[in-house]
Amino acid sequence: MSSARPGRVRVRAKGGRTAAQVRWLQRQLDDPYVAAAKKRGYRARSVFKLEEIDQKHGLLRRGMAVLDLGAAPGSWTQYAVEKGCRVVACDLLEMAPVAGAAFVQGDFADPAVQERLRTLLGGPADIVLSDVAPNTTGLRNVDRLKAEAAVEAVLDFATRVLRPGGACLVKLLKGAERAILPLVRQHFAGYRFLRPKATRAESSELYLLATGVRPEPPKE
Ligand SMILES: C[S@@+](CC[C@H](N)C(=O)[O-])C[C@H]1O[C@@H](n2cnc3c(N)ncnc32)[C@H](O)[C@@H]1O
Repeated sequence: MSSARPGRVRVRAKGGRTAAQVRWLQRQLDDPYVAAAKKRGYRARSVFKLEEIDQKHGLLRRGMAVLDLGAAPGSWTQYAVEKGCRVVACDLLEMAPVAGAAFVQGDFADPAVQERLRTLLGGPADIVLSDVAPNTTGLRNVDRLKAEAAVEAVLDFATRVLRPGGACLVKLLKGAERAILPLVRQHFAGYRFLRPKATRAESSELYLLATGVRPEPPKE
């Protein structure tokens, strides 16, 4: 069966493009979420994962204080600002400004960065969003452990920055559920695992939505 579709643009392996680059470009061109994001002015297709989860679970409401970790290039921040939320975003990478949002460049797990994020929030957050994707090494076990550690660091920060009853939406890799559940059960009243439709079929990512945080007692 031919893969040619009406209107489909074929990427040629020219100009020194590697095979992987050609595959990536072809996938982008074929992806309806990439086209829809471009049409609606969003910086990334991942906005549709947040939109679906928000529409199903009513995450974001006007006036909420939102902490967006792993925010670049910024489509989740754009979406939350559009919903009328006050957003503080953080990423290791630079991010072009999103009008109405504050941004801190740095590692969200760094205590100095966390302090800066708290100051910008000016009080507890209503929800922590994390689409953090640690750099991969190609070594499966190493990457799995890095991803689990990042989720644990997000949950740890969330328990210290959220208002009582607040929620956390965090990306994780399939298989990490068992490792993180004790922490989730310890700190949150409820949780569910979600795999929005915009998740690529070959991707092993899913999202944990943890609700009803019981804040950490202050350390002595
Ligand atoms: C999939 S992208 C996020 C996409 C974003 N939600 C959007 O809609 O535009 C994952 C991001 O996590 C960031 N990241 C990874 N580790 C981080 C860390 N320790 N602190 C802050 N950002 C991190 C990466 O730099 C990357 O930009």
